[in-house]
Amino acid sequence: MNVLEAIKKRRSIRKYKDVGVEWDNVVHILEAGRYAPSAGNLQDWKFIVVTEEDIRAKVARACLNQSWMETAPVHIVICSILERQIQHYGDAGKKYAIEDASCAAMAMMLEATELGISSCWVGAFDEMMLRVALNIPDRATPTIVLTMGYADEEVPEPTRTVLESVVFLQHYANRIKNENMVMWNWSLEMEKQLHEGKHGLKKRLEKVKKAVKEKLEKKMRG
Ligand SMILES: Cc1cc2nc3c(=O)[nH]c(=O)nc-3n(C[C@H](O)[C@H](O)[C@H](O)COP(=O)(O)O)c2cc1C
Repeated sequence: MNVLEAIKKRRSIRKYKDVGVEWDNVVHILEAGRYAPSAGNLQDWKFIVVTEEDIRAKVARACLNQSWMETAPVHIVICSILERQIQHYGDAGKKYAIEDASCAAMAMMLEATELGISSCWVGAFDEMMLRVALNIPDRATPTIVLTMGYADEEVPEPTRTVLESVVFLQHYANRIKNENMVMWNWSLEMEKQLHEGKHGLKKRLEKVKKAVKEKLEKKMRG
């Protein structure tokens, strides 16, 4: 799966099968988070992995009673270490901390997608309740909760705005002329040609292979 495929394939899943996620896969997901970019490479995050049922129930309650979260066998709570960011960047550090946690969350969700594991980003929670549930000290701030598990529902792709409505060229509100041709039809056409090209090449190779094999067999028969 290439990255864009994973980005498009990922869906927020809110109903999970009653099976755990293999620890190896959890580690791969955490590793993706570890490699995410962070401001000044401060890596100002801690990842709390929650697998125990009663603690997951507390997390779901802290997330404003989103009880569907209890069906997820794994919760990952991303905490930011604000102090380090503020030491380095002053007030801007607060913003960077959220951005860093978001990068880690996205990297984890994409790795999960690659592994066939579904996820959901949960931003709605009561910070104090989460702190109490997970013994989070003052120096760490819970920023994002992720649920992980094997999907037990199929969710249709939510609509996305068209590219043309969100992209400007050079300055705000300057739309690209013939943007449909430049940004979309063009790349779709290239993709098609590339795909056909690869396919065509494979077909030709198979033909050559077959011809060589037939020649060899003929020779051997005398
Ligand atoms: C910052 C943020 C906070 C979110 N918080 C919640 C949440 O508390 N509960 C929930 O069910 N989904 C939450 N979501 C998931 C969004 O609802 C979901 O990403 C959106 O509807 C698009 O669907 P998709 O993820 O399948 O593309 C959150 C997503 C983001 C990025």
